[in-house]
Amino acid sequence: MRLKGLLLAGGTGSRLRPLTYTGAKQLIPVANRPILFYAVEAMVEAGVTEIGVIIGDTGPSVQEALGDGSRFGCRFTFIPQSAPLGLAHAVMTAESFLGDDPFLMMLGDNLLRGGLSGLVQRFAAGDYAASILLTPVPDPRQFGVAVVENGRVVRLLEKPDPPPSNLALVGAYVFQPVIHRAIHTLKPSRRGELEITDALQTLVDWQLPVDAALVQGWWKDTGRPEDVLDANRLVLEDLQAGIDPSAEIDDLSQLSGRVQIGPRARIVRSTIRGPVIIGEEAELVDAYVGPYTSVGPRVVIRTAEVENSVILQDSELTDIPGRVDQSLIGQRVRVSGAPQRPRAVRLVLGDQSRIDL
Ligand code: DAU
Repeated sequence: MRLKGLLLAGGTGSRLRPLTYTGAKQLIPVANRPILFYAVEAMVEAGVTEIGVIIGDTGPSVQEALGDGSRFGCRFTFIPQSAPLGLAHAVMTAESFLGDDPFLMMLGDNLLRGGLSGLVQRFAAGDYAASILLTPVPDPRQFGVAVVENGRVVRLLEKPDPPPSNLALVGAYVFQPVIHRAIHTLKPSRRGELEITDALQTLVDWQLPVDAALVQGWWKDTGRPEDVLDANRLVLEDLQAGIDPSAEIDDLSQLSGRVQIGPRARIVRSTIRGPVIIGEEAELVDAYVGPYTSVGPRVVIRTAEVENSVILQDSELTDIPGRVDQSLIGQRVRVSGAPQRPRAVRLVLGDQSRIDL
């Protein structure tokens, strides 16, 4: 079965401010690659190569990051959405691109370790109007929730309170073109959006079969900063070790565990304990970089210790007294310790920054 693809990379990213003031939330990197790239790769691996990409205000940066698709082995068609009016509204916006084809839809800020091939195969093997993926979560109120009876989805609700089950819809769906008809009957939800969850419920109401399977491996929605750190940790679990031949590592530095070091990075008198990824031209001097840390391109860490963190490109950490832990640091950020006493904290912070001292 030939499926088209629909990748959602619009929306506002308000829960990830201030990082999303300067870019799309789907472009925040984990293990030094934009979250969105993992979704594209999963789609291509599942055999989907004709992909429409929904873009919003951050469209130009998404378009620039993705290119025409040739480097992923697919072809992108960029589809601007007038405003983030819901996942079903995004499908509506893509209606002419999707035509009469069945399609695989994936949210650009979701990561799925087990890939999408299983989902696509289930859909192709059965006679379903839709196939979805579910996973048990501790707090289902933040998600779309499904009730399953005898392997069939019987009820779906968006962000219900109280939730009727603990099975959350993860951001991957396969649809027959009948979904367009269901979407045309929708009214905006309480949060003012056209919900894909409601469109799925409409299919159920029409007695059409909606198939659900549980996620194999792990799934992560990266909507909040702590989710990005979790996602980073999960992706780094699978990191391939490797040191680019152009990287410089002096004899006083110690590397242990799985460490990946990019081109022209410089490591001087530093300790790195993997899993850690160091981007190109990054510089570590008298530094400690501990497990589950992604250091972006051209980041400088001098006389500082970092662990369990994500540091985006061109940022600098110097002379930090304590250890930086569980931190998400944006692009071109400078954090430095004051060498003289009395020690004071001097801050220049953007809107909605978060500091724990
Ligand atoms: O993460 C899974 C959850 O995703 C599901 O359990 C929910 O049923 C589903 O509604 C969705 O909930 P969220 O509230 O987390 O969706 P969010 O607004 O974060 O949007 C998800 C992605 O889709 C994100 O990458 C932005 C993009 N998007 C979103 C909207 C509302 C668009 O491209 N256009 C839109 O109009």
